[in-house]
Amino acid sequence: MFKTTLVVLLLSAAVFASPNARIIGGRAAVRRQAPFVASIRNFGTNFHVASGALISDRWVVTCASVLLGRAGNSFDVALGIIDLASSPSGSVTRRSSSITPHPGFSATNLDNDIGLINLAGVGSVSYNDFVMPIFFDGIRNDNAVTAVLSGWGSVTTEVGPTSNTLWILPLTTISNEACEAVHGGRITRDKICTNNSNGNGICTTSIGSPLVSGLQLIGIASWTAGCGTTTPNVYTRISSYRTWIGSITGV
Ligand SMILES: *[C@@H]1O[C@H](CO)[C@@H](O)[C@H](O)[C@H]1NC(C)=O
Repeated sequence: MFKTTLVVLLLSAAVFASPNARIIGGRAAVRRQAPFVASIRNFGTNFHVASGALISDRWVVTCASVLLGRAGNSFDVALGIIDLASSPSGSVTRRSSSITPHPGFSATNLDNDIGLINLAGVGSVSYNDFVMPIFFDGIRNDNAVTAVLSGWGSVTTEVGPTSNTLWILPLTTISNEACEAVHGGRITRDKICTNNSNGNGICTTSIGSPLVSGLQLIGIASWTAGCGTTTPNVYTRISSYRTWIGSITGV
């Protein structure tokens, strides 16, 4: 079932890449296309603050910048949804029980922009057609890998209210050298960048959005030089943190 779902996601990406797919900035997802995507909200207000990726039945990975200065139990995490405002059958909302921002995170240059949210306060999350984890194998992917970005927020070039709908957007990665040529020394080997030359990509509200290639999580959206920019989007490179994630989660 897990594999079937991801194959659907990949087939969708192929469709979007066709010249007739005239949807600028990706398109609305349907349920099961990205069953690993998490909406991270402020506990109490339910305000969506970032996206993340489910990597096991009790852990979500997101950006460290989202977690900084927050108490361990200050988030709700919604899984198995498309619309931020609804909780259909099969969706799950869990309050965070602890958070672990990477100890090497730098708010100045966004180095090590990765963190973990534990959901297991009341036991592990059950999987179903709409809630499933994503693999992350620690194998470094280099340039020109096709990938799919999924998340909420302005994953489009459009300016205006943040969409409540999950968006998915096919992208291609570029080499770190090509990314560094644009963004300079902030592009360490622990970053991975995408080609956003058509202006489609992440916006400030899309941080933590998972970038998936094949059946593997390869990045989480960390920063961009601006919404709708044609310069590369920058992601935390998940393979660089495989060992660290394992040491915290046991996954
Ligand atoms: C990004 O994509 C455009 C359009 O396909 C291409 O011309 C350009 O060379 C690509 N940039 C990199 C760094 O790969």
